[in-house]
Amino acid sequence: MKIQFVKTLPTEQKRKQKQTLVFPLFEEQEFKAATAILDKAAASRITTILKSTKPFKGKIGEASIFYIDDKITITLLGLGAKDKWNAGNAETAGGKLCVALNAEGIEQATLIADKLKHAEHITAGVKLRAYNFDKYKKPKKDDKLKLETLAVFAADSSAIKKAYTPLDQTIDGVYLTRNLVNEAPNVLYPDMYAKLIKDELKPLGIQVEILDDKKMEKLGMGAIMAVGQGSSRKPRMVVMVWNGTGKKLTQKDQPVALVGKGVTFDTGGISLKPGAGMDEMKMDMGGSAAVVGAMKALATQKSKSYVIGIVGLAENMPSGDAYRPGDIITSYAGKTIEVLNTDAEGRLVLADTLTYVQKTYNPHTIVDLATLTGAMMVALGHEYCGTYVNDDTLWKQMETAAADAQEKIWRMPLDEAWSEEVVSTVADLRNMGKGRFAGAGTAAAFLEHFIDKDRKWAHMDIAGTAWITSDKPTTPKYGTGFGVRTLTKLVQTCYETKN
Ligand code: BES
Ligand code: MN
Ligand code: ZN
Repeated sequence: MKIQFVKTLPTEQKRKQKQTLVFPLFEEQEFKAATAILDKAAASRITTILKSTKPFKGKIGEASIFYIDDKITITLLGLGAKDKWNAGNAETAGGKLCVALNAEGIEQATLIADKLKHAEHITAGVKLRAYNFDKYKKPKKDDKLKLETLAVFAADSSAIKKAYTPLDQTIDGVYLTRNLVNEAPNVLYPDMYAKLIKDELKPLGIQVEILDDKKMEKLGMGAIMAVGQGSSRKPRMVVMVWNGTGKKLTQKDQPVALVGKGVTFDTGGISLKPGAGMDEMKMDMGGSAAVVGAMKALATQKSKSYVIGIVGLAENMPSGDAYRPGDIITSYAGKTIEVLNTDAEGRLVLADTLTYVQKTYNPHTIVDLATLTGAMMVALGHEYCGTYVNDDTLWKQMETAAADAQEKIWRMPLDEAWSEEVVSTVADLRNMGKGRFAGAGTAAAFLEHFIDKDRKWAHMDIAGTAWITSDKPTTPKYGTGFGVRTLTKLVQTCYETKN
């Protein structure tokens, strides 16, 4: 889909495509006044049409499409109550507009956005919803996106374009993340994934380093290596370095680190998961994919920041070589871990990844993302990402960034009791809590054992938000790309150098 910003309406000559003019209207009074004006222009057709169909109310994203002739249509787009109009509602309206236009087979839409606030977010909503993972499908008429061009019309269209451009670049990062999460696990395994990250990010000026299994073994990364040892596809760790500060870095420079869990498929290992729905565990690399998407978004926007992205990649499989419950492994940090359940593998992958980034790059702040626990889904469903933070200032910054990014996060508690609960009787730590309760909290507490004192750290458990099975207004089902927008905003607003 092409997006254009125009100062003049498209001419009548290009009548090959099915076209529409989209009139955004607020609920009730506003809407009535506007239709009167429109009506004049359209020779009373609108009133006539409105009378003959079910009444248009102007609810957010409500879209009524009326035919003027067989090619030209008029679309009334509801914006809801004027006093509640904001960026989030604008994205919802845009997402719903995208669905309505597509259902009608519209190929060319012009959004009348003159003097309309948040027009860039309506546009973003359309783009977010226009995503479709169809690389393995023979083109079937109904699934294909028909909307070829969205033109945004306004006298000050260049101002809208300026506001929209960074959104567009971030959404390209969201698209990349969705593609990675939706990719099949036989195609996207650690080595292949690592190469793909390099191909994708290197051209953008990001330095990419791949640690292979030999290197990781040699370094003593016993935790991530244990998770991957049951698979013939060996683990990888990928480090992405973005320096947009414009200066040469010294030992004293501290980056912000974005860390992701990249379990390319989670069978549970010897503690095997039930068969039903296991296919969905291809999404267990959603945290890593969000990091990759955010790195892309930051680089394309030339963020004046110093950021390390790092992802731990492994496949959790049962086999004669697999790690087992009862095993005691030694992590890269030197702490020993009693494995009580091979399905609690994400925290093991993260333990070594977190240690490596701290030892090698000394970050002042770390944000990790992981599809870590089913318990987080039980707690907050698909709506909120539970976020554990060891620093109040960092939490405030994240809260603001997420709100700006239209992603919902909710602060969860870290607690000494849970830190103690993951201490083992036979090793330094155990990889799960003792009872059925607070599974997301004990997982976060386990990770905290691998965070150095005085480092700011946030852990986002995206188990419920990385993947959905029914459409939302701005998110088609399956991989959501959750986290990309928050990470990008956080870095842009808190960690850019001013000059
Ligand atoms: N990848 C899963 C968590 C998950 C579940 C993500 C559902 C997305 C949807 C994780 O590796 C896992 O299996 N966690 C276990 C931990 C338990 C064994 C302590 C869980 O949550 O059941
Ligand atoms: Mn698991
Ligand atoms: Zn997992």
